[in-house]
Amino acid sequence: MEAIEQAKTLEAKALSEIENSGDEVSLERAFNAYLSKKGQIAGLMSLMKDIPPEDKAIFGQAVNGAKKMIGEAYEAKRKEFEGKALSEKLATEKIDISLPGATLAQGHINPYYQIIDEVSDIFLDMGYEVVEGRDVETDHYNFELLNVPKDHPSRDMQDTFYISDELLLRTQTSAAQAHTMGERKGLSPIRMICPGKAYRRDDDDMTHSHQFAQIEGLVVDKNISIANLKATLDLFVKKMFGEKREIRLRSSYFPFTEPSVEVDVSCFNCGGKGCSMCKGTGWIEILGAGMVNPKVLEMCGYDSKVWSGFAFGVGVERVAILRYGIDDIRRFYQNDARFLKDYIGK
Ligand code: DAH
Repeated sequence: MEAIEQAKTLEAKALSEIENSGDEVSLERAFNAYLSKKGQIAGLMSLMKDIPPEDKAIFGQAVNGAKKMIGEAYEAKRKEFEGKALSEKLATEKIDISLPGATLAQGHINPYYQIIDEVSDIFLDMGYEVVEGRDVETDHYNFELLNVPKDHPSRDMQDTFYISDELLLRTQTSAAQAHTMGERKGLSPIRMICPGKAYRRDDDDMTHSHQFAQIEGLVVDKNISIANLKATLDLFVKKMFGEKREIRLRSSYFPFTEPSVEVDVSCFNCGGKGCSMCKGTGWIEILGAGMVNPKVLEMCGYDSKVWSGFAFGVGVERVAILRYGIDDIRRFYQNDARFLKDYIGK
Protein backbone atom coordinates (compact mmCIF):
# COMPACT_ATOMS: atom_id res chain seq x y z
CA MET A 1 0.00 0.00 0.00
CA GLU A 2 1.43 3.25 -1.14
CA ALA A 3 0.29 5.35 1.83
CA ILE A 4 1.96 3.01 4.29
CA GLU A 5 5.15 3.23 2.28
CA GLN A 6 4.85 7.00 2.45
CA ALA A 7 4.48 6.81 6.26
CA LYS A 8 7.52 4.57 6.57
CA THR A 9 9.61 6.85 4.36
CA LEU A 10 8.59 9.89 6.37
CA GLU A 11 9.41 8.09 9.60
CA ALA A 12 12.87 7.17 8.34
CA LYS A 13 13.50 10.72 7.17
CA ALA A 14 12.37 12.24 10.44
CA LEU A 15 14.43 9.82 12.51
CA SER A 16 17.56 10.53 10.54
CA GLU A 17 17.01 14.27 10.72
CA ILE A 18 16.57 14.08 14.47
CA GLU A 19 19.54 11.86 14.89
CA ASN A 20 21.70 14.16 12.80
CA SER A 21 20.56 17.42 14.32
CA GLY A 22 23.72 19.10 15.62
CA ASP A 23 22.10 21.38 18.17
CA GLU A 24 18.86 22.24 19.90
CA VAL A 25 17.81 24.66 17.17
CA SER A 26 17.90 22.06 14.41
CA LEU A 27 16.24 19.52 16.72
CA GLU A 28 13.36 21.90 17.33
CA ARG A 29 13.15 22.55 13.62
CA ALA A 30 12.74 18.80 13.02
CA PHE A 31 10.09 18.62 15.73
CA ASN A 32 8.11 21.41 14.09
CA ALA A 33 8.45 19.86 10.66
CA TYR A 34 7.20 16.40 11.68
CA LEU A 35 5.46 16.31 14.99
CA SER A 36 3.71 19.65 15.41
CA LYS A 37 -0.02 19.94 14.77
CA LYS A 38 0.62 21.12 11.26
CA GLY A 39 3.64 18.87 10.76
CA GLN A 40 4.06 16.16 8.15
CA ILE A 41 2.90 13.27 10.40
CA ALA A 42 -0.39 15.06 11.04
CA GLY A 43 -0.50 15.67 7.28
CA LEU A 44 -0.42 11.89 6.62
CA MET A 45 -3.91 11.66 8.13
CA SER A 46 -5.29 13.52 5.14
CA LEU A 47 -4.52 10.39 3.08
CA MET A 48 -6.98 8.38 5.24
CA LYS A 49 -10.00 9.31 3.16
CA ASP A 50 -8.55 7.58 0.06
CA ILE A 51 -7.68 4.36 1.84
CA PRO A 52 -10.05 1.43 1.49
CA PRO A 53 -11.93 0.73 4.71
CA GLU A 54 -10.24 -2.62 5.34
CA ASP A 55 -6.81 -0.98 5.26
CA LYS A 56 -7.66 2.09 7.37
CA ALA A 57 -6.69 0.36 10.64
CA ILE A 58 -3.30 -0.76 9.33
CA PHE A 59 -2.58 2.69 7.98
CA GLY A 60 -3.66 4.31 11.28
CA GLN A 61 -1.34 2.01 13.18
CA ALA A 62 1.55 2.83 10.85
CA VAL A 63 1.02 6.55 11.31
CA ASN A 64 0.73 6.24 15.10
CA GLY A 65 3.78 3.97 15.18
CA ALA A 66 5.77 6.58 13.24
CA LYS A 67 4.57 9.35 15.55
CA LYS A 68 5.61 7.34 18.61
CA MET A 69 9.03 6.46 17.21
CA ILE A 70 9.76 10.02 16.13
CA GLY A 71 8.50 11.41 19.45
CA GLU A 72 10.76 9.06 21.40
CA ALA A 73 13.76 9.89 19.22
CA TYR A 74 13.06 13.58 19.74
CA GLU A 75 12.86 13.20 23.54
CA ALA A 76 16.05 11.15 23.66
CA LYS A 77 17.92 13.70 21.58
CA ARG A 78 16.59 16.59 23.69
CA LYS A 79 17.79 14.89 26.88
CA GLU A 80 21.15 14.32 25.28
CA PHE A 81 21.50 18.04 24.52
CA GLU A 82 20.36 18.96 28.02
CA GLY A 83 22.90 16.68 29.62
CA LYS A 84 25.65 18.06 27.40
CA ALA A 85 24.77 21.66 28.30
CA LEU A 86 24.82 20.80 31.99
CA SER A 87 28.18 19.11 31.89
CA GLU A 88 29.63 22.01 29.90
CA LYS A 89 28.30 24.42 32.52
CA LEU A 90 29.73 22.32 35.33
CA ALA A 91 33.08 22.17 33.60
CA THR A 92 33.32 25.93 33.11
CA GLU A 93 32.06 26.77 36.58
CA LYS A 94 34.23 24.27 38.35
CA ILE A 95 35.53 25.54 41.71
CA ASP A 96 38.95 24.44 42.75
CA ILE A 97 38.45 23.89 46.46
CA SER A 98 42.13 23.22 46.95
CA LEU A 99 42.97 26.90 46.21
CA PRO A 100 43.65 28.99 49.32
CA GLY A 101 40.69 31.21 50.24
CA ALA A 102 40.75 34.99 50.04
CA THR A 103 41.08 35.90 53.71
CA LEU A 104 39.75 39.26 54.87
CA ALA A 105 41.99 41.15 57.25
CA GLN A 106 40.28 41.27 60.62
CA GLY A 107 39.70 44.69 62.13
CA HIS A 108 40.26 45.51 65.80
CA ILE A 109 38.96 48.04 68.22
CA ASN A 110 41.47 50.79 68.87
CA PRO A 111 42.77 50.45 72.49
CA TYR A 112 41.64 54.02 72.95
CA TYR A 113 38.01 52.96 72.40
CA GLN A 114 38.53 49.86 74.53
CA ILE A 115 39.42 52.14 77.44
CA ILE A 116 36.42 54.41 76.79
CA ASP A 117 34.12 51.35 76.71
CA GLU A 118 35.60 49.94 79.90
CA VAL A 119 35.40 53.21 81.82
CA SER A 120 31.86 53.78 80.55
CA ASP A 121 30.83 50.31 81.76
CA ILE A 122 32.26 50.98 85.23
CA PHE A 123 30.34 54.24 85.59
CA LEU A 124 27.15 52.90 84.00
CA ASP A 125 27.22 50.20 86.69
CA MET A 126 27.35 53.00 89.26
CA GLY A 127 24.21 54.58 87.81
CA TYR A 128 25.85 57.27 85.68
CA GLU A 129 24.62 58.25 82.25
CA VAL A 130 26.97 58.70 79.30
CA VAL A 131 26.40 62.02 77.57
CA GLU A 132 27.75 63.15 74.26
CA GLY A 133 29.56 66.46 74.07
CA ARG A 134 30.50 68.44 70.98
CA ASP A 135 33.94 68.80 69.44
CA VAL A 136 33.24 72.32 68.19
CA GLU A 137 32.46 74.47 71.19
CA THR A 138 31.84 78.07 72.01
CA ASP A 139 34.29 80.02 74.14
CA HIS A 140 31.39 80.48 76.54
CA TYR A 141 30.97 76.76 77.28
CA ASN A 142 34.60 75.75 76.97
CA PHE A 143 35.94 78.53 79.20
CA GLU A 144 33.60 81.19 80.57
CA LEU A 145 31.06 78.92 82.26
CA LEU A 146 33.95 76.95 83.77
CA ASN A 147 35.25 80.04 85.50
CA VAL A 148 37.96 80.73 82.97
CA PRO A 149 37.30 84.30 81.82
CA LYS A 150 39.03 85.82 78.79
CA ASP A 151 42.08 87.11 80.67
CA HIS A 152 42.59 84.01 82.83
CA PRO A 153 46.22 82.79 82.85
CA SER A 154 45.17 79.12 82.57
CA ARG A 155 44.02 79.86 79.01
CA ASP A 156 47.67 79.97 77.99
CA MET A 157 47.97 76.23 78.51
CA GLN A 158 44.84 75.59 76.51
CA ASP A 159 45.45 77.36 73.26
CA THR A 160 43.49 75.60 70.55
CA PHE A 161 42.20 75.72 66.97
CA TYR A 162 39.91 78.71 66.62
CA ILE A 163 37.18 78.73 64.01
CA SER A 164 36.24 82.27 64.96
CA ASP A 165 36.74 84.39 68.09
CA GLU A 166 33.83 82.59 69.71
CA LEU A 167 34.04 79.13 68.12
CA LEU A 168 36.83 76.67 68.81
CA LEU A 169 37.73 73.00 69.01
CA ARG A 170 37.15 72.20 72.67
CA THR A 171 40.23 72.01 74.84
CA GLN A 172 38.58 69.87 77.48
CA THR A 173 35.54 67.64 77.82
CA SER A 174 34.70 69.74 80.90
CA ALA A 175 32.57 71.84 78.53
CA ALA A 176 30.02 69.00 78.74
CA GLN A 177 29.56 69.82 82.45
CA ALA A 178 28.20 73.26 81.63
CA HIS A 179 25.91 71.87 78.92
CA THR A 180 24.49 69.17 81.17
CA MET A 181 23.87 71.53 84.07
CA GLY A 182 22.29 74.04 81.71
CA GLU A 183 19.98 71.41 80.24
CA ARG A 184 18.80 70.32 83.71
CA LYS A 185 18.07 73.94 84.59
CA GLY A 186 19.23 73.59 88.18
CA LEU A 187 16.36 71.25 88.95
CA SER A 188 17.61 67.69 89.11
CA PRO A 189 20.64 65.74 90.36
CA ILE A 190 23.28 64.75 87.78
CA ARG A 191 25.48 61.69 87.46
CA MET A 192 27.18 61.72 84.11
CA ILE A 193 30.34 60.96 82.24
CA CYS A 194 31.27 62.39 78.87
CA PRO A 195 33.98 60.66 76.85
CA GLY A 196 35.29 62.50 73.82
CA LYS A 197 38.07 64.20 71.97
CA ALA A 198 39.79 67.38 73.04
CA TYR A 199 42.23 69.54 71.10
CA ARG A 200 45.09 71.84 71.96
CA ARG A 201 47.76 73.63 69.99
CA ASP A 202 50.74 71.39 70.52
CA ASP A 203 53.77 70.08 68.71
CA ASP A 204 53.21 66.36 68.31
CA ASP A 205 55.81 64.03 69.73
CA MET A 206 55.86 60.77 71.68
CA THR A 207 54.02 62.24 74.64
CA HIS A 208 52.11 65.17 73.13
CA SER A 209 49.32 65.22 70.61
CA HIS A 210 47.20 68.10 69.33
CA GLN A 211 44.27 65.70 69.65
CA PHE A 212 43.61 63.47 72.61
CA ALA A 213 40.68 62.05 74.53
CA GLN A 214 39.28 62.66 77.97
CA ILE A 215 36.47 61.29 80.04
CA GLU A 216 34.73 63.91 82.05
CA GLY A 217 32.72 63.03 85.13
CA LEU A 218 30.20 65.14 86.99
CA VAL A 219 27.99 64.49 90.00
CA VAL A 220 25.65 67.17 91.32
CA ASP A 221 23.27 66.44 94.16
CA LYS A 222 22.42 67.54 97.67
CA ASN A 223 25.06 66.90 100.37
CA ILE A 224 27.81 65.77 98.05
CA SER A 225 31.18 65.95 99.78
CA ILE A 226 34.79 65.19 98.95
CA ALA A 227 34.30 61.83 100.67
CA ASN A 228 31.94 60.87 97.84
CA LEU A 229 34.55 61.93 95.30
CA LYS A 230 37.23 59.88 97.03
CA ALA A 231 35.06 56.77 97.34
CA THR A 232 33.96 56.99 93.71
CA LEU A 233 37.47 57.37 92.35
CA ASP A 234 38.78 54.63 94.64
CA LEU A 235 36.19 52.23 93.26
CA PHE A 236 36.90 53.31 89.70
CA VAL A 237 40.64 52.79 90.09
CA LYS A 238 40.19 49.35 91.69
CA LYS A 239 37.91 48.24 88.85
CA MET A 240 40.17 49.68 86.20
CA PHE A 241 43.61 48.75 87.52
CA GLY A 242 42.97 46.00 90.06
CA GLU A 243 41.65 45.45 93.58
CA LYS A 244 45.01 46.10 95.21
CA ARG A 245 45.34 49.66 93.90
CA GLU A 246 45.18 52.60 96.30
CA ILE A 247 44.57 56.22 95.46
CA ARG A 248 46.15 59.36 96.83
CA LEU A 249 44.80 62.89 96.52
CA ARG A 250 47.21 65.78 96.19
CA SER A 251 45.98 69.34 96.30
CA SER A 252 45.99 71.11 92.97
CA TYR A 253 44.29 73.90 91.09
CA PHE A 254 41.58 73.99 88.43
CA PRO A 255 39.45 77.09 87.93
CA PHE A 256 36.21 75.06 87.87
CA THR A 257 36.79 73.11 91.09
CA GLU A 258 37.40 74.22 94.65
CA PRO A 259 39.16 72.51 96.28
CA SER A 260 40.96 70.78 93.41
CA VAL A 261 43.03 67.62 93.55
CA GLU A 262 45.36 65.59 91.42
CA VAL A 263 44.72 61.87 91.87
CA ASP A 264 47.51 59.29 91.86
CA VAL A 265 47.19 55.52 91.77
CA SER A 266 49.66 53.24 93.52
CA CYS A 267 52.04 51.90 90.89
CA PHE A 268 50.71 48.68 89.38
CA ASN A 269 54.14 47.78 88.12
CA CYS A 270 55.99 47.72 91.46
CA GLY A 271 53.04 47.80 93.86
CA GLY A 272 54.24 51.08 95.37
CA LYS A 273 57.88 50.22 96.11
CA GLY A 274 59.22 52.49 93.39
CA CYS A 275 60.32 51.61 89.85
CA SER A 276 61.03 53.26 86.51
CA MET A 277 57.36 53.38 85.62
CA CYS A 278 56.47 55.50 88.67
CA LYS A 279 59.82 57.31 88.59
CA GLY A 280 60.67 55.82 91.95
CA THR A 281 57.75 57.43 93.78
CA GLY A 282 55.39 54.45 93.97
CA TRP A 283 52.56 56.59 92.58
CA ILE A 284 51.31 57.40 89.10
CA GLU A 285 49.18 60.45 88.37
CA ILE A 286 46.03 59.55 86.49
CA LEU A 287 43.45 62.31 86.73
CA GLY A 288 42.37 65.74 87.91
CA ALA A 289 39.30 66.27 90.06
CA GLY A 290 37.67 68.44 92.68
CA MET A 291 34.50 69.80 94.19
CA VAL A 292 32.55 71.79 91.62
CA ASN A 293 33.32 75.46 92.22
CA PRO A 294 30.13 77.13 93.61
CA LYS A 295 30.68 79.89 91.05
CA VAL A 296 30.40 77.30 88.26
CA LEU A 297 27.26 75.82 89.81
CA GLU A 298 25.68 79.27 89.92
CA MET A 299 26.71 80.24 86.38
CA CYS A 300 25.22 76.96 85.12
CA GLY A 301 21.92 77.47 86.93
CA TYR A 302 22.35 75.46 90.14
CA ASP A 303 21.79 77.13 93.52
CA SER A 304 25.08 76.50 95.35
CA LYS A 305 23.38 76.77 98.75
CA VAL A 306 21.24 73.76 97.87
CA TRP A 307 23.43 71.76 95.52
CA SER A 308 27.03 70.63 95.59
CA GLY A 309 29.01 68.30 93.38
CA PHE A 310 32.30 66.81 92.30
CA ALA A 311 33.93 66.50 88.93
CA PHE A 312 36.88 64.70 87.43
CA GLY A 313 38.67 64.42 84.12
CA VAL A 314 40.59 61.34 83.01
CA GLY A 315 43.02 61.32 80.10
CA VAL A 316 42.14 58.30 77.97
CA GLU A 317 45.52 57.87 76.29
CA ARG A 318 47.23 58.15 79.66
CA VAL A 319 45.18 55.25 80.99
CA ALA A 320 45.76 53.23 77.80
CA ILE A 321 49.49 53.94 77.85
CA LEU A 322 49.75 52.79 81.46
CA ARG A 323 47.50 49.82 80.91
CA TYR A 324 49.11 48.52 77.72
CA GLY A 325 52.64 49.92 77.99
CA ILE A 326 52.27 51.89 74.75
CA ASP A 327 55.37 53.96 73.99
CA ASP A 328 54.07 56.65 71.65
CA ILE A 329 50.81 58.58 71.91
CA ARG A 330 50.71 59.12 68.14
CA ARG A 331 50.07 55.42 67.62
CA PHE A 332 46.47 55.84 68.74
CA TYR A 333 45.73 58.00 65.72
CA GLN A 334 47.77 56.38 62.98
CA ASN A 335 45.47 53.38 62.66
CA ASP A 336 48.30 50.99 61.89
CA ALA A 337 46.54 47.61 61.86
CA ARG A 338 49.61 45.89 63.36
CA PHE A 339 49.50 48.18 66.39
CA LEU A 340 45.77 47.66 66.84
CA LYS A 341 46.20 43.89 66.61
CA ASP A 342 48.87 43.92 69.32
CA TYR A 343 46.53 45.42 71.90
CA ILE A 344 43.38 43.53 71.16
CA GLY A 345 41.67 42.11 74.21
CA LYS A 346 44.57 42.90 76.55
N1 DAH B 1 39.68 69.68 82.28
C1 DAH B 1 40.91 69.31 82.95
C2 DAH B 1 42.04 69.28 81.95
O1 DAH B 1 41.80 69.19 80.79
C3 DAH B 1 40.76 67.99 83.63
C4 DAH B 1 39.85 68.09 84.79
C5 DAH B 1 40.35 68.39 86.06
C6 DAH B 1 38.50 67.93 84.64
C7 DAH B 1 39.53 68.51 87.14
C8 DAH B 1 37.65 68.04 85.75
C9 DAH B 1 38.19 68.35 87.00
O2 DAH B 1 36.33 67.89 85.67
O3 DAH B 1 37.36 68.46 88.03
O4 DAH B 1 43.17 69.36 82.36
